[in-house]
Amino acid sequence: DRVALAFSGGLDTTVCVPILEEEYGYDEVVGVTVDVGQPTKEFAEAEETAEALDLEHYVVDAKDAFADTCLDAVRANATYQGYPLGTALARPVIAEAILDVALENDCSALAHGCTGKGNDQLRFEAVWRDSELDVIAPVRELGLTREVEQEYADERDLPVEGGNAGAWSIDTNLWSRSVEGSELEEPNYVPPEDIYDWTQSPSGETELLELEFEDGYPVALDGEAMDPIELIEELNEVAGSHGVGRTDLMEDRMLGLKVRENYEHPAATVLLNAHEALESLVLTKEERSFKKGIDHEWAEKAYEGLLAAPLVDALDGFIDSTQERVTGSVTMKLDGGQARAVGRESEYGVYSAAAASFNTADVGGGIEQADATGVAKYHGFQSRLASRVMESAESA
Ligand code: ARG
Ligand code: SIN
Repeated sequence: DRVALAFSGGLDTTVCVPILEEEYGYDEVVGVTVDVGQPTKEFAEAEETAEALDLEHYVVDAKDAFADTCLDAVRANATYQGYPLGTALARPVIAEAILDVALENDCSALAHGCTGKGNDQLRFEAVWRDSELDVIAPVRELGLTREVEQEYADERDLPVEGGNAGAWSIDTNLWSRSVEGSELEEPNYVPPEDIYDWTQSPSGETELLELEFEDGYPVALDGEAMDPIELIEELNEVAGSHGVGRTDLMEDRMLGLKVRENYEHPAATVLLNAHEALESLVLTKEERSFKKGIDHEWAEKAYEGLLAAPLVDALDGFIDSTQERVTGSVTMKLDGGQARAVGRESEYGVYSAAAASFNTADVGGGIEQADATGVAKYHGFQSRLASRVMESAESA
């Protein structure tokens, strides 16, 4: 029998290879690495490790599908407790790609190296359990710790890197890089600078960028049209150099565990902030307020790895209809680890200079400033009445 393993070449998935053969009795393990925009050196490492393990290894390119999902997340202003969901958005894409390889290669089972404490097991299996294949989670089922994995790897001379690179559990894709484990689990441990790879400490320099959006999708940077992958990669570089997009949070996982997580996500921060700035110009007050709830639900389902849920289709209906007007451009200022909108422009702006300005006397449309006098007389009427009623009831 053959089993397809989600394989990154890291510690967890490397020890899974001999375990699947020896403990689970599979004749062959097929390793699958899915390209969701990790740095190219990770593929070389995965390839090398696979070779050393004598593993049949496939690399599947799912970058385009993943980049599209990231930009859908921008339209939904999607973050979970402050984190732009990179790992969460990638898991269903990875799971689908591995299932395809498994089916093409006569595998009877699927395996991942996730623990029984995290979110990723749930996201993978939400996809895989829709198939006829068996699902195996060696780390969870055998109760392995990273220390035990490291010992097992040392004993057998498995090709895993030592030091901190091995101690931290890192997950990288186009949208974010997450670092967790070891001392970083301690909520009060101040992360050393070397956990960061995409972001530099803010330099004190400032940079302006112009982003163009069409239907809520970012389509150009500084006047140059870019496809999603190019745009995200470029923004990760540029904004990362200003220290934009670091998040250090206590994350409430699906199972209820609170876990300390560190993330880097420069492009996501720039795009999310820019998109929200453009929405603030073109959407009405009540649309903005209602959309917050829609966006929240969207992000929750994304975190759960359940964007295929019927609810999300319905949410997308609302999002699509609002995004028709999210077309225009935003000027972003990068400095000191921040990406702030400092200018926004759209033909759909629900903004009238004549109406809002202190420099014009009237509002327009036949409304004069003096018309507000009646509104001002009424404003707070009910509160004033309530206080008076209470006072007289108490003194009676
Ligand atoms: N906790 C995060 C999430 O659920 C990311 C976990 C990433 N995994 C890792 N081994 N660093 O999206
Ligand atoms: C894991 O527990 O395998 C990684 C972290 C997560 O899934 O949340």
